[in-house]
Amino acid sequence: MKSFVFHNPTKLIFGKDQVETLPEHIPEGTRNVLLVYGGGSIKKNGIYDHVLEQLNKKGMTVTELSGVEPNPKLTTVHKGVDLCVENDIDFILAVGGGSVIDAVKTIATGAKYDGDAWDFVTKKAFPQDALPFGTVLTMAATASEMNAGSVITNWETNEKYGWGYPPYTNPTFSILDPQNTVSVPKDQTVYGIVDMMTHLMEQYFHEETPSPVQDEMIEGVLRVIIDTAPKLLEDLSNYQHRETIMYAGTLGLNGMMQMGYKGDWASHNIEHSVSAVHDIPHAGGLAILFPNWMEYNINVQTERFARFAVKVFGADPEGKDDKELGLEGAEALRKFWNSLGAPETLADYEITEDSFDSIVEKSMNRGPFGNFSKLQEQDVFRILELSK
Ligand code: NZQ
Ligand code: ZN
Repeated sequence: MKSFVFHNPTKLIFGKDQVETLPEHIPEGTRNVLLVYGGGSIKKNGIYDHVLEQLNKKGMTVTELSGVEPNPKLTTVHKGVDLCVENDIDFILAVGGGSVIDAVKTIATGAKYDGDAWDFVTKKAFPQDALPFGTVLTMAATASEMNAGSVITNWETNEKYGWGYPPYTNPTFSILDPQNTVSVPKDQTVYGIVDMMTHLMEQYFHEETPSPVQDEMIEGVLRVIIDTAPKLLEDLSNYQHRETIMYAGTLGLNGMMQMGYKGDWASHNIEHSVSAVHDIPHAGGLAILFPNWMEYNINVQTERFARFAVKVFGADPEGKDDKELGLEGAEALRKFWNSLGAPETLADYEITEDSFDSIVEKSMNRGPFGNFSKLQEQDVFRILELSK
């Protein structure tokens, strides 16, 4: 392991009806709140009313920014920044999934910056200040509720990048009530499961082995997700399964599983480039790419892939070498995701070779990438070919 400092400043408030505690978490003296949400799911399932009821208890003036899109757009961030300035906002509340929360992180920093918030995303500038913000999570997937990451798409340039700058982009608090995820439809539930599993695996395939404690933690969380996911998909309103998946999602990327190393993250980088060109769901792209990334890199630390197959998918090592086992693990992962209903090939989204050059070029914008296995242009191209 490398030396590390772990500091996660987000207060996590987890459990049934915890939205009722919202007023006590908003900083004293807050007068003007910007309430940010997505395309309307929170109005259909009643979360909007619950949140507003709590905000009204404190007598704060509430301004709204609605319509944050999945894969949030820079233009929406700009709208949010303008609303903050025009309405003298002193606190932002994100109510939604990763997209809403990510948008709020860039709005919160953009509101305290004279230039364009895109400068932060492209790392041309770094925040010196931010409005405080909290979240009410409605979908288990990204762990954005407990990390500093924000992923924004600029459709003028077809660029989608992740960025973050602790502590300014860390939520002050996040309220996680599994009941709020019961209305998440089946397809989005699957995407959330694929995303959180991929986060765990991006961290599992890292450059600094040995890491026996983290290995066992990641394998354990993955096994629980694999056991729970089919049961949840059979019974989407099951509170206990929603609770398990929600907690797993937050653990998946809140820093706990990445102490002492960086993780690989190449598949996420390639997926962000695919989404920047084709606007597909983040986890739909991951479900296609990640098993192919595994197969492509099977000769890098082959024993790690073999261990993954045995410990996570219960592969029988009898009479097999590490490579056979490792490939069996990649196939087991692909089959598992397909059994949940996740896509398997880029063709499922009608993505053809025609856009591969453009995807490769975007993914290389910041140079070769991947910490477990460093990818060059030709490697990304091969992984896309395997994914067609
Ligand atoms: O917009 P509404 O109407 O609210 O509907 C949303 C949206 O259509 C719906 N939804 C959310 N909660 C619901 C619900 N529908 C019914 N009931 C509920 N309770 O679900 C759809 C997807 O929401 P979205 O927020 O886009 O999903 P997710 O949480 O998967 O976030 C995806 C975004 O996060 C980024 C991705 O790239 C993508 O842009 N990521 C952020 C990360 C981070 N900040 O750490 C890491 C990830 O790897 C990821 O890249
Ligand atoms: Zn992800």
